[in-house]
Amino acid sequence: MNEFLLIVVAYLIGSIPTSVWVSQYFFDIDIREYGSGNAGATNTYRVLGSKWGTFVMIVDMIKAIVAVKLAFFLPDAYDHELYLINMQIGLGLAAVVGHIFPIWADFRGGKGVASLFGMVLGIQPNVALCCVGVFLLVLFLTRWVSLSSILAGIMFPVFILAIFNEPEHLYRIFAVMVGLLIIFTHQKNIGRLLRGNESKVPILKHRDR
Ligand code: G3P
Repeated sequence: MNEFLLIVVAYLIGSIPTSVWVSQYFFDIDIREYGSGNAGATNTYRVLGSKWGTFVMIVDMIKAIVAVKLAFFLPDAYDHELYLINMQIGLGLAAVVGHIFPIWADFRGGKGVASLFGMVLGIQPNVALCCVGVFLLVLFLTRWVSLSSILAGIMFPVFILAIFNEPEHLYRIFAVMVGLLIIFTHQKNIGRLLRGNESKVPILKHRDR
């Protein structure tokens, strides 16, 4: 299988609009018309409950992990480590782009957080776990999933630099791209956060005083 074909397959896998299909097939609604309007795990949690939110998060992560692992279908991947990493990043990003602009759902998808996490988990699990730490800490303190996602995304390049000391040029580009992508897909959230009207999720509820 050649590289281009695999990239297309990765995009098609990433394009599976989990939250849209769940909302349509099980609830007869379009998740994009409810809550924040985002076709992602957070909005599914908000609108359809924790069970479906968790389901969507897991499937959206798995999509990207599967896409990254497609690299092992390339015979050269076993001999050249840099080529393997190159292809994993390309395939993972193709899946994330598919998640954000899904061909199966009018190109109106989610913000790519769960898929980006799945991608990083598939390529660099240590860095993914560090980002989860930031995400959970910010979520615990603020209950804003969007802010947690944004800060975890921004910290991603920092963790790459810290863990690798002298990272490959490729890793630097990848790290900065992830951070920028998260900021790009959260523009509306950033506006709401600045205006003070971003909604919080009722997880890890703060005790009322
Ligand atoms: O996973 C996306 C999250 O960071 C924000 O989602 O629905 O609050 O815009 P939402």
